[in-house]
Amino acid sequence: MFTRRSLLTAASTGAAAASLPGSATAAPASSESRAVESRAANYARALDFCVERIRALAPEVTGYPERTEFEKWVYNDDGGWVGGFWPGQLWLAHLHSGDAELGRHARRSASGLERRATDTSTHDLGFLFYPSWVTAWRITGERAWLDGALRAADTLTRRYNERGRFLRAWGELDDPHRAGWVIVDTMMNLDLLLLAAEVTGQRRYAEIATAHADTTARQLVREDGSTCHVFEFDPESGRPLRQRTAQGYSATSCWARGQSWAVYGFTTVFRRTGQRRFLDVARRVADHLVRSLPPEHVPVWDYRSPYAPYDVRDSSAGAVAACGLLDLATVTGHGRYRATAERMLAALESSCSTRESDRAEGVLGRGTSNRPAERGIEVSLPYGDYYYAEALTRLVHPEEARDYLGTA
Ligand code: GLY
Repeated sequence: MFTRRSLLTAASTGAAAASLPGSATAAPASSESRAVESRAANYARALDFCVERIRALAPEVTGYPERTEFEKWVYNDDGGWVGGFWPGQLWLAHLHSGDAELGRHARRSASGLERRATDTSTHDLGFLFYPSWVTAWRITGERAWLDGALRAADTLTRRYNERGRFLRAWGELDDPHRAGWVIVDTMMNLDLLLLAAEVTGQRRYAEIATAHADTTARQLVREDGSTCHVFEFDPESGRPLRQRTAQGYSATSCWARGQSWAVYGFTTVFRRTGQRRFLDVARRVADHLVRSLPPEHVPVWDYRSPYAPYDVRDSSAGAVAACGLLDLATVTGHGRYRATAERMLAALESSCSTRESDRAEGVLGRGTSNRPAERGIEVSLPYGDYYYAEALTRLVHPEEARDYLGTA
């Protein structure tokens, strides 16, 4: 569904970034608009490439891509935490191309997650059900998709710890191990609760989401705007205990994908609730992220790794950040967030694309899943590919992105 209208809309909104202080504001209008149009055409071409890869793979995908090994996807049969991203990519490819067959693949893949809606062992229900079932509902209008997403939202509320005012990240509900662990990633699962609050009118969903966001802002976001990956609470009293990490370099470091989850998550919670304190946190974490980027503009896997800025990259952190920064630019009117997002996308396209490989199944390489565990280092990741396509969709099809993805 790539139309000239959406190309021109992308071009005209891009003009804000092109007239930022320090950019070529003195250029004649015609050359500036030519530059803007050519950037918009580049985004459309980048999205064409995403569709090409997705379309080629779709008929043979049986499970849910988790990460690549030597450029080929390794699948997870029940979806793990990543199951929402393959149907999500299929929906994005369907939106961009208008190809009905991609829509049918998206339905089949999303349907395979159905039993996960009652899975009480994980906080990842937003990651699982938002890009897949919520998007399916928005695109098709079929109520069954919304009902499934609402079931998942209900399940997620069961992880709420009233005393600590947080959603538990990992583990079965009756498992005392890590019962008080909160992770920054959960910020991305709150939109499922906020959607449930909006469509059902039940305030409890929103109360849990905002309480969790407040707790995250207080304990996981540091004064300088950096984040820790994990914070441990006493699960009985709710008392805050200590910073920790799982996927970052250390308890006091700044894991890059986590920082991106914070930017996107706090921006979304502000957009849905209108509560100004969440915007302040979103800006603080975004400003820290922007300050931490290496000159190449593809995030190092942990901004405080002793080898930064030369350590391995995480392209997925760049793709997630681009989405969050584009929304933040829209809600604040600050073009510098958009300019950074566009530079990050250009860097992903120029230094992480798998375009030159006949063998590759993913769209972006150089994503890092779990550096400390040495699992998935500088590989393709389904969330990198999904958020890259989501960011490009914001730029190429802004109206469709608002209508079907709920973007700013
Ligand atoms: N949510 C898990 C991760 O970002 O790796």
